[in-house]
Amino acid sequence: MINREWHLLSRPVGWPKPEDFALVETPVPTPGEGQVLVRNKYLSVDPYMRGRMSAAKSYAAPFELDKVMQGGAVGEVIESNAEGIAVGDHVLHFLGWREYAAVDAKNAVKVGPTAIPAVTVDPEAVPLSAYLGVLGMTGLTAYAGLLRTASFKEGDVVFVSGAAGAVGSQVGQIAKLKGASRVIGSAGSDEKVKLLVDEYGFDAAFNYKNGPVAEQLREAAPDGVDVYFDNVGGDHLEAAIGSLNQGGRIAVCGMISVYNNTEPAPGPRNLARLIQTRGRIEGFLVGDHYDLQPQFVQEVGPWVASGALKYRETVVEGIENNLEAFLGVLRGDNIGKMVVKL
Ligand SMILES: NC(=O)c1ccc[n+]([C@@H]2O[C@H](COP(=O)([O-])OP(=O)(O)OC[C@H]3O[C@@H](n4cnc5c(N)ncnc54)[C@H](OP(=O)(O)O)[C@@H]3O)[C@@H](O)[C@H]2O)c1
Repeated sequence: MINREWHLLSRPVGWPKPEDFALVETPVPTPGEGQVLVRNKYLSVDPYMRGRMSAAKSYAAPFELDKVMQGGAVGEVIESNAEGIAVGDHVLHFLGWREYAAVDAKNAVKVGPTAIPAVTVDPEAVPLSAYLGVLGMTGLTAYAGLLRTASFKEGDVVFVSGAAGAVGSQVGQIAKLKGASRVIGSAGSDEKVKLLVDEYGFDAAFNYKNGPVAEQLREAAPDGVDVYFDNVGGDHLEAAIGSLNQGGRIAVCGMISVYNNTEPAPGPRNLARLIQTRGRIEGFLVGDHYDLQPQFVQEVGPWVASGALKYRETVVEGIENNLEAFLGVLRGDNIGKMVVKL
């Protein structure tokens, strides 16, 4: 049997180019003691992977050149040398960008219909891909960033950028479900803006490509913003500081607008406003908040299963399209979590 996997050939400068990568055929790995062989069914593509393609020191080690890349994946166990995981089980693990993976059982979490009820959601009510998104890493990012880092409280006015994406769409809806007085989102197309208001229940939304963000935000949030959840950076961050209320909190989750920059982007010009507002700005990494995972699943799982919290996925088919799917996330092709179905 042949396995196909994506290798990084050279470190992209600016926007990644197809020649920086190769889809390579290798033998299917043989699982060792304590490992399971997984046939991946869904692969995750995420903005943070752009950072791992660079050699710069960061919180996650750079991908190695001429080696397979990594990422979240869910698949079916087809061979098991590990206690507690059987053939036919579905597991979430971290060896994506490939069709088959030999995974250490300690790095595999059972999900879906055969899972021990770590997840209190009706397993039939959510597809396997949800464990990469709405009930997975991006969902926990939204939950932890909003509730812990931004110290969200009932009555807050919340602004979230990248609002039609995996993290952003969940931030806005969790805020609404938990009693935000107003939720405002920004996204990069009129179709996405309509979705935010019509389907996700945002109170207001705007297309950041239609005019200056600061002006559009002032119009959408006439009484200012208590919480800004930043997925984007750049002019969005400056606009949010400009609209920040007294005691406002800014959770810096991501800055996708600068990920492909070859020169450092200028910072917000109005940071001094944090003094006057006693505002707080704080970055966070989901990896530091996995203690919230049980609480997250307990609270958000039923909302997902009942439809109180809606989510979309953009599903690209085929390992050969894994790279295009990743580039699509950077371009904004996706609505909700982008996943690759094998
Ligand atoms: N801190 C953490 O632990 C953590 C964990 C997960 C994710 N993140 C960060 O959270 C953010 C969202 O991640 P995600 O997985 O949910 O991705 P996503 O929002 O589903 O997809 C990325 C979206 O970013 C938008 N975008 C691209 N370029 C942009 C630009 N120049 N200006 C404004 N928007 C732009 C695109 O939507 P439009 O059509 O709206 O432009 C695109 O759909 C990213 O910054 C990511 O790095 C952080």
